[in-house]
Amino acid sequence: MNKKYRRCIIAGNWKMNRTPSQVRGFVEELRGAMPASLRGCSVVLCVPATHLHALSSLRSRRIAVGAQNVSEFESGAHTGEISAEMLRDLDVRYCIVGHSERRQDNHETDKMVSAKVCALLDKGITPIICVGETLEQRERELTLEHIAYQVKAALSGLNAEQVRRCVIAYEPVWAIGTGRTATAGQAEEVCYAIREMLRTRYGALISRKVSILYGGSMNGDNCAELLAQPDIDGGLIGGASLRSGEFAKIVAAGCAE
Ligand code: 13P
Repeated sequence: MNKKYRRCIIAGNWKMNRTPSQVRGFVEELRGAMPASLRGCSVVLCVPATHLHALSSLRSRRIAVGAQNVSEFESGAHTGEISAEMLRDLDVRYCIVGHSERRQDNHETDKMVSAKVCALLDKGITPIICVGETLEQRERELTLEHIAYQVKAALSGLNAEQVRRCVIAYEPVWAIGTGRTATAGQAEEVCYAIREMLRTRYGALISRKVSILYGGSMNGDNCAELLAQPDIDGGLIGGASLRSGEFAKIVAAGCAE
C-alpha cells in the first residue's frame, strides 16, 4: 500500500461551537498560520449548518467547506432537515456522516448512515463516514468486528466507484473529547483493518485510493506520529480545530507526510 495514491485530508469538526460571525476572522487567522504550500493536502472545516454560508462566501481555495450532517431524504416534509442539494448549493464539498455523537444523541442508525452516504454521493459531496468502538467494546476485544460491521453497513448498496469517493474516519468513542488519544499503533491497526476489508470487498485499486482518517483527541503534539502511520491519511479534529494556530500545526504535519 502506498500513501501517494491517496489524498491527505485534515478536517476540523467544529461540532456545536462558535458563531457564524466568527467564521471570517478564524479563516483569516488559519490562512495566515497554514504552510504556504499544502502539497496536495486538503484542508476542510466542517461547521454547523448556520455557519456554512459565511464559510462558503469566503470562497477560499485553500479551505474546503464541510457540513456536519445531512438529511437522508431528498426534499419535502421534513421540518428542520437540510438536504444534500441545499449543501451543494452552498459549495459544500464534504459532509460528516454517522458521527458517534449523532448516533448517540440523535439515534442515527446504520441504515440512516447508509442512506445519507447515498444522498451525498448523488450530489457529488464527499461523505466522511465515522466509525468507532466504545471502551466496553475495546475491552471485550470486539473492536475490529464492530468496525467491520459499521463500515459494511455504511457502504452497503454502493458500487466500487462510489466507495472510491468516500472517506472513512476511525474515531474510537473513548478517545473523543477525552484527551485520551489512541496510540499510533492502536489507530494504525484499525485503519489497516478497514483498508484490508475494502481490498477484499472492492479490490486493491479501490482500497488504495480511499482516504482513512483518525479522529479522537488529535492535537498539535500527537498528530505527527499518528499521521506518519501507513494507513492513516489524515485527521478529523474536534477541540483542536477551534484554535487556528493548533489546527494549522496539524495541517503542517499532514503536508509533511
Ligand atoms: P476531539 O478532537 O475533540 O476529541 O473530537 C474528535 C471528533 O469527534 C471529531 O469528529
